[in-house]
Formats: sequence, C-alpha cells, structure tokens
Amino acid sequence: RTIYLKDYRAPDYWIDETHLTFDLQPDATLVESRLKVRRNLDQGNDLPKLVLDGVELELVSVAIDGQSLSADEYVLYDESLELPVSRPAFELQILTRIKPESNTSLEGLYLSNGMYCTQCEAEGFRKITFYPDRPDVMSRFTTKVIAPRSYPVLLSNGNDIERGELDNDRHFVTWQDPFPKPSYLFALVAGDLEHVDETFTTKNGREVKLQLFTEPRNIHKCDHAMRSLKHSMRWDEEVYGREYDLDIFMIVAVDHFNMGAMENKGLNIFNSSCVLASPETATDAAFQRIEAIVGHEYFHNWSGNRVTCRDWFQLSLKEGFTVFRDAEFSADMNSAAVKRIEDVVLLRASQFAEDAGPMAHPIRPESYMEISNFYTLTVYEKGAEVVRMIHNIVGKEAFRKGSDLYFDRHDGQAATCEDFVAAMEEASGKDLEQFRNWYNQAGTPLLEVSDSFDEQKSEYHLHVKQSCPPTPGQKEKQPFHIPFAIGLLDSAGKDIPLNAQGDTQLVLDVTQTEQTFSFDGVGERPLPSLLRGFSAPVKLRYDYSAEQLAFLMSHDSDGFNRWDAGQRLALLVLEDLQAAYRAGEQLVLDTRLADAYRAVLEADDLDLAVRAKMLELPAEQIIAESSDAIDAEAIIAARSFLKQALAEALEPQLSNWYTRLDVEKPYSPSSADIAERSLKNTCLAYLVLLQKPEYRTLANKQFAQSGNMTDCAAALAALVNSGDEVLSRSALDAFYEKWQEDPLVFDQWLAIQAGSARFGTLQRVRDLLEHPAFELTSPNKVRSVVGAFAMRNFTQFHAGEGEGFDFLADFVIRLDKVNPQIAARLVTPITRWRKYQSPMQEFMHASLARVMAAGNLSKDLYEVVSKGLA
Ligand code: ARG
Ligand code: ZN
Repeated sequence: RTIYLKDYRAPDYWIDETHLTFDLQPDATLVESRLKVRRNLDQGNDLPKLVLDGVELELVSVAIDGQSLSADEYVLYDESLELPVSRPAFELQILTRIKPESNTSLEGLYLSNGMYCTQCEAEGFRKITFYPDRPDVMSRFTTKVIAPRSYPVLLSNGNDIERGELDNDRHFVTWQDPFPKPSYLFALVAGDLEHVDETFTTKNGREVKLQLFTEPRNIHKCDHAMRSLKHSMRWDEEVYGREYDLDIFMIVAVDHFNMGAMENKGLNIFNSSCVLASPETATDAAFQRIEAIVGHEYFHNWSGNRVTCRDWFQLSLKEGFTVFRDAEFSADMNSAAVKRIEDVVLLRASQFAEDAGPMAHPIRPESYMEISNFYTLTVYEKGAEVVRMIHNIVGKEAFRKGSDLYFDRHDGQAATCEDFVAAMEEASGKDLEQFRNWYNQAGTPLLEVSDSFDEQKSEYHLHVKQSCPPTPGQKEKQPFHIPFAIGLLDSAGKDIPLNAQGDTQLVLDVTQTEQTFSFDGVGERPLPSLLRGFSAPVKLRYDYSAEQLAFLMSHDSDGFNRWDAGQRLALLVLEDLQAAYRAGEQLVLDTRLADAYRAVLEADDLDLAVRAKMLELPAEQIIAESSDAIDAEAIIAARSFLKQALAEALEPQLSNWYTRLDVEKPYSPSSADIAERSLKNTCLAYLVLLQKPEYRTLANKQFAQSGNMTDCAAALAALVNSGDEVLSRSALDAFYEKWQEDPLVFDQWLAIQAGSARFGTLQRVRDLLEHPAFELTSPNKVRSVVGAFAMRNFTQFHAGEGEGFDFLADFVIRLDKVNPQIAARLVTPITRWRKYQSPMQEFMHASLARVMAAGNLSKDLYEVVSKGLA
C-alpha cells in the first residue's frame, strides 16, 4: 500500500497525556498505557472511531473511562485497533503484551546484549503499544519502568521523579518529560550499565547533568563523545542561540542498532560505533564521525524535537537542516575544506546514484510504501545541500534571522518544509518561490557552461544551460533556482574583481533554462572557477583542458575548487584510459596528471589534509556516475592502472613524505595530527603497490608498532591490498588475536577483508559469514562484511560474471526474515542495473528478479525490489 503526501489529514483525536508502565519480564513484557484522549474539534464535532496503530502486539485488555470493552466492541486489524467513541474527551486504558527477546527488526522495544532498548523512529512505537503513531500527535509522557534488580539502570525521557523497590527482587523508576512530543521520540533503556557524568552550564545558567551509559567493558571509551557533546552544546548556543532545556541529557551506547543514532528527547540512543572511541581502538575517521553524530543528535533537540515534523514526508525538514548544522559544526571544529570535500564525495558517489536510480525522490517525497526506505542520502545529504543553498542565497545573517523566526514561530509544533522556507523568505526578504522546486523535483540538475570573450569591449560572457534528467513519475522538470558561485582567474592565477565593490567571487542566480551572465572591464580572457565551494548539488560541465585544470589546481583561491580541479583532471585521464582499454590498446600514464600530482606533493602552501585528499583518485562510483552506461570492467582497469602508474611516477616524493611524517608521538585527534596521519597513510597505500620489499617492511613495521588504530588499520589495509598473501595472512591473524574481544575492532577486521581489492574477496566474504563471531542480528557486522563488499568494494563486487550479485541476492533474502530495514538497504546496488552495460546489466537484473521470486518479502524489501524491477 502506498501512502501519499496529498492525502495528509490532521488527526481526529489528540492525546494530551500518555502514562506508560512497562513491566519488563523475560518472554512477556507488559505495557500498560493510559491516554487522555480529546477530539480534535478542527476536524468536526462528530465522534468518529478512534483508530490506533499497532503491529505484532498481543492485546490483553482495553477500557474507556474505567469501563472495559468486550471483544465485540472493538475491531482488531492486522496493524490497527478501532475503538468506539461516545464522548469528546475520555481516558483510554490499554494493556498489551510484547516479546522484546524475539524482536530482531530492532524497531520498537528489543534486547541488545541483554540490555533493553528502543528505536521508535519512524514507526516503531506501534510495536510497543496501540497508539496514534504519527508525528503530529504530541503528548506529555510519564513512564514507569519496572524491572528485575539485575537491570539496575532504568531510563526514559525527561526527569526521574520517583523510584523504589518492589517485591520479587524488582524495582522501578518513573520518568516524566515536561515537553509534549510525538511517539517517535519516546525511549526506554534498562540494563546493567555504567556511566560517566559531567555537568554543563548553559548560557543562562542552567546546570545540566550529562551522562553517558555503556556496558561496563566500554566505560573507558566515553571521553571523546563527552567532549564532543559539550562542544555541541556550546556551539549551538553561539551559532544558533539555542539552549538546552532539561536538567539532564543522557546518551546510551548499544551494539545492535539499525542506524547511527537517535535523538529521543533527553535520552539519545547511539550505535556503539558512533559513540565509543579510544586511540588504540578507533580510527581518526571514527573520532570525527563520533563528533559529527553526537552533534547531529544534540542539535535535533531544537531542529527535530522542539520543532518536529507534521508527517514523514517532511523528514528533510529536521534531517536536512540538522545535517547542515552538524556539517557546519564539524567544519568549525576541524578543517573546513576537508569536511566540505568529504561531504561532496559522499554526495557524488552515492546520492547522485540515488537520484539517477529507480528509487529517486525529491527531498520531500510524494509517496512511499515504507517510510524507513526514505531515510536516504537524498533526504539527509541533499536535504542539507538545499538548506546550504538557502544560506548561500540569503546570506549568513539573514539565515540566522530566519532560523530564529522558524524556531520561535513553531516551537512546540509539528511543522512542514514550507514553514521553514517561509520563515527564511520572510526574514531575508528574498523571493524563494522558484527555489521551492528543490523540494518537489527529484534528479541531479546538470549545468552546461560555455563562455566567450569580446576583446574589443573587454567583456566576458558565461552562458549557462540547466537541465534535469527525468526520474520515475517526473518526466518534465521546471528550472531550478541555483546559486552558482564563481570567480575568474587572470593569467597569473589571481582573482579578477567582478564588480565595482571589488568582489572577486559572486553568487549568480541561475533561474532560467538558458542564461548569459556578462562581466565588463575584463582585460584578458580569464579562466573561470565555477561552482565554488560546491554552491549547489548539481553536475557541472565545462570544457576545461587538462592544462587549465592543472592551473586551477595550483592557483584557485577557493580551496574546494583546487581539489575539484584535480578530480576533474583525473576524470579526464580516466576517461581516456577507459577508451584505450576498450580498444585493446596499451594503457599509458598521462604525464600531465603525474606532473599535477607531483606539484601537489611538492607545493609548499598546501594544508596537509587537503593535500592528502588531492592525491586520492575519484572513487569508482564517481567515475561510474559520469558515464551513461557503466562499463565496470573498464573503470576498474583504468583506475587500478592509474593508481599503480602514479605510484611508480611519484615514488621519491611519496616516500619522502612518508619518512617525514613517520614520527612517534602520543595520539591526539586534533586536525593537525589527523592531517599528518592522513597524508602519511595515503603515501603508504601508493607505495605498497610497488611490490618492493622495503615498502612492505614499512607497512609491516607501522602495523606492528603503531599505538593508534588509524595507523594500525591503514597499515593492515595496505598489507591486505599488497598482494603478498603470506604477509597479509599473518597480519590479519595477529590483528584478530589481539582484538577478537572488542566487537568494534573486530568489525574493522571484517571490513578490511571484505573491502580488499584483491582476488578471492567473494570467497573470503562467504567465509567471514561463517565466522563464529559473525551475527546476522547485528547490523554493524552485516555492514562490515556484506556492506563493505557490495556497497564499497566496487572492484570485487563487479568482478567475474555476476557471482557477487547472486551472493548479495541470496544474502538479502535470508536477512529479510531477520531485519527488513537493513535488507532493503543492502539490496540497492543491484537495483541500479539499468545504468550498466551488457552483460553486467543482465546479471544484475537476474539477481534482483531472484529476490522478488523468493516471495513473502517484507514491505521494506518489496518496495525497493519492485521499484528496481519496474
Ligand atoms: N533520526 C535519526 C537521525 O538521523 C535516524 C533514525 C532512523 N530511523 C529509521 N527508522 N531509519 O539521527
Ligand atoms: Zn537526524
């Protein structure tokens, strides 16, 4: 069944108060709910039936105003309960029985390593009790948690107002959340947990207790998350003027979790991989991810909780805005240029593919079968780009005014994307009418730019053409309003002033299908630097020569575009290499690229982290994105040749940098140190390709001696990719011996193997699934093996005659019975078959069809597979 945005109707009844009592018992947890129900008079004065959502629940009893109902007075459907109503306001009492022990979907109430926890967004609350499980019904929650004393820690949202002992070795704690909230923000945790405590004083002097809960074995891994939380709280006060609003803020780490984390009011629940870190066990990337996600969930307290979403079509209202907020936070805490580069890489490699695939949807979708399938890169990352564009169009100050107005006006409400745009429009005075197309239209727009120079008149013209390919259900698109940031470079590489005020960068408003922008007083033919800072989520085409790109790489004043010029140059070269490969010609290195990379290595003004990024070739997925019919074999051949050839051409410089940066010092996740490790390990990854004993020795030494996981894992990956079976085996064994007891490090051990570009990976992946420590019920384990292989190992996933696709199909069919959400995510690579050349296309399609033929698919998997086959 498909749900449509156009069918939205306000709820028939409000729930003013929600009183829950959980009696946690093995095999039969009882949930009692007492609801104060009130007719929504805006919908009329009649008293329609009250329809509550409920999935996989055992209804024990139901009573209205103390009168219990007999079975013929209500109707119990598969996923709802229909009740008679005779008064406009009444108290409803429902008792249900649930089985958290056998809940492997990880939605609702479930067990993770013996700890009870919940995940209710988007529609998990209906697996706990019968309720109007929709975000526009906001209620004040009081929650009493009763459990055996072997679960000493009992948590829920808000403040604890009462606790006590009960007979049979049981105890209870009651929590009260003063802020009305939708059911998706409800949370409960019960377990044998330890915690670290700190306090934070808000700008207006509120003392907030900060608590981080983990299983006892992980308690030493909380420092970084706690520090990140304090930074987030301060940052939101300084940059957005947002203050925390309860006396306590809790974070709980759990091992079994479908996503990264969840912003439940006052009680965030995190995937342990997104909160726990120590230098010995977590990489720099993990440290940065933790900071970003702690920030993200914290920022939701305003953008998501205080102002929530009216319905799930508005998901990007909270997610796009919050991702934008966390990206700016990370940029402020670390290297802003690197953060921007990483986000754009993610967008190009993965979101563009989504926009071009069978599940393409606007950031505000028009319909869905299963909302879990719409927690996508489009809603999150492209949604954040849309907010960033508003920021680019209205400017920093008006944006802040707009956000103040939005929070002010909609505090305590369930709002829409339209409310957000309207607030921005009002505060800035800018017309955003056409801009709204970004919310309605799917697909990645293409900007085709050409230029001309009139020497006589000293006039320079930029001709801009925009288009957007058709997507499912949307053939024709209206032109977008695209903020197009540009600069012009003179022959010395300096920025040319573009107006009377002397600005050297302008944000052009591209609004029409075709448009020309003119600049006068331009003395010589300039070189354009286009889409600076990636000012809009579009594809850009301009016919740059290799020489021009090399020039931009060393001269552009926009750090992002310097990096991007390198990407474009590499893509040009890779295109030629693919053509040569297809023609059966010998592949040769284009020395212009080698020279440009050498200049990057030798430049003296380049930030080390940006330098490392500039030495990274575009990922296979990005190369694939730039062709209409993906030739996986040619892409793999071209890219791996180029990597090898660059290693050979740049050996002295690479080894120089490695030696310079190979110094012992205590670990710190500071951006300066992260930059050093990043460049060092980029060099190492190139050097081991040379198959020389001295570099293998270096990798081996780094592997054996480094005291931090960043260097250790990088060395291990280098060894595994070196092609030396013996060395690689012994390193993997040593790593396993040392870390088998730490699940998060074990996950890295899995992912490094499943991500290996070397032959035999598929067999290795099959073996890893049989490893005694692999669990099908753990999304982290599944992602580390099957995700690393099917979504991140382009080379090995596409190797052979579709064996990788078949493997994925079989696995997904099996996983669907355990965890539908994750199964539906994992299947996506083979839903993109249409974009591939023959015979890869047929192989993929056949595997996808096999999933459908398996029958009995979950709603989640069915939606993705059926749209993929359509
Ligand atoms: N709101 C959470 C976050 O972005 C994600 C929740 C994911 N839930 C889901 N069913 N996919 O921080
Ligand atoms: Zn979020």
